[in-house]
Amino acid sequence: MSQRTLVLLKPDTVRRGLIGEIVGRIERKADWRITALEMRVLDRALLEQHYGEHVGRPFYEPLVEFMASGPVVALIVEGERVIEGVRALAGPTDPIAAQPGSIRGDYGVIVRENLIHASDSEESAERELKIFFPGRA
Ligand code: PPS
Repeated sequence: MSQRTLVLLKPDTVRRGLIGEIVGRIERKADWRITALEMRVLDRALLEQHYGEHVGRPFYEPLVEFMASGPVVALIVEGERVIEGVRALAGPTDPIAAQPGSIRGDYGVIVRENLIHASDSEESAERELKIFFPGRA
């Protein structure tokens, strides 16, 4: 089943020079295509919209502050089972729990700086794509 997902390469990925490494892993998967890619600094209003479901959770403020701390790279990735697939490539939220071979398992240590966001369902993907790429909805 072909799908679309929103991927964000977080500020730690950009600061550490890992954009190419992570984009390469996504690009090399058979059938997946990057159909939009943009570097930008996210403002608080957009982040509050994107992470609205987490308002009030203990990690919310650190997460928003971190995501606004430098440029991110936003991508639309399309292809077969791409929603589940990018999340599998990323590994679990806590990089220490992530297997070597996954992006977070290979490059992450602390939870806040976990390198990549990927939509977790078709509904989230459509909602998030409208926020980041309103012209492509
Ligand atoms: S949940 O409970 O499953 O909805 O939460 P989860 O998907 O694991 O996390 C939601 C987003 O919050 C980020 N997160 C954190 N950021 C900063 N500090 C801490 N401690 C922290 N814990 C979780 C997590 O990376 C998720 O953001 P995205 O952008 O989706 O990766």
